[in-house]
Amino acid sequence: MSGTVYLVGAGPGAPDLLTLRAARLLERADIVFHDALVPQAILSLALRAIKIAVGKRSGQHSTAQKFINKRLVDAARMYPVVVRLKGGDPMLFGRAQEELAWLQQHRIRCEVVPGVTAALAASADLGVSLTARGWSRSVAFLTMRTAAGARPNNWLKVALAADTVVIYMGAGEAEEISRALIGAGKSPATPLAIVEHASLPGMRKLAGTLEQLPALAERCGNGPVAILLGEVYREIAASGIIAPWLNQLSAGEQLSFSPTVRATRGGRAHSSNS
Ligand SMILES: C[S@@+](CC[C@H](N)C(=O)[O-])C[C@H]1O[C@@H](n2cnc3c(N)ncnc32)[C@H](O)[C@@H]1O
Repeated sequence: MSGTVYLVGAGPGAPDLLTLRAARLLERADIVFHDALVPQAILSLALRAIKIAVGKRSGQHSTAQKFINKRLVDAARMYPVVVRLKGGDPMLFGRAQEELAWLQQHRIRCEVVPGVTAALAASADLGVSLTARGWSRSVAFLTMRTAAGARPNNWLKVALAADTVVIYMGAGEAEEISRALIGAGKSPATPLAIVEHASLPGMRKLAGTLEQLPALAERCGNGPVAILLGEVYREIAASGIIAPWLNQLSAGEQLSFSPTVRATRGGRAHSSNS
């Protein structure tokens, strides 16, 4: 008889945002396969477990995923409690479906334990509701990343239709996102916010407009970044509390993505921290 594989959400990073169910499972786990983003403070709850990092890098998805699938099945044949620990919520941009399908195909019992997804942690850090009454009645979670052979997907249509849009894994594609959305008719002045390392001590937030997105994204470090777009961010984008340098730019000079803007980045780096 094989064990059970639990697909567990580790949340956005802060250990105390882990669910109680997740913490209890980690305590009972015999083996934990974890993503790169899961911090040590959470892993240390799995006192007795063997811990195996299976973080993936983009471009290596399919090979890495097949390997992880196989290891989960092998582990379930050896141990009663196998935890597959994923950042945020496992069911959102977490490749849970591939793992669930593979486990079910191999008749391995599995359960999913939800976690706090990045969009919710970022909203908490910003203090702005994704669905602020009177402004937003719909939220879209989207990513530009696609798997090889994925069905065609019109992310632009979704981004234009939703009142609030949260873009995952988008920092590297900031210029493309901004250009595509503006080209599709979204106002360049659409307010947006960026949260890096949501819920963590190194958390950083920036706000501005859609046309400023590439410049804002350049100011992010190497941490995970959530991009949030919509009228609900108008106040923080305009207030200058988060990124006063951007307001100076939009009030006076034309924001360009030329070396002029880049040259000023170093000197202003700390003004964007909140
Ligand atoms: C592979 S996706 C996983 C999403 C995860 N399943 C979730 O529900 O949050 C990784 C992306 O999630 C976002 N993300 C994860 N943790 C984050 C954090 N603490 N702060 C900001 N964004 C985060 C970033 O966009 C990152 O590139």
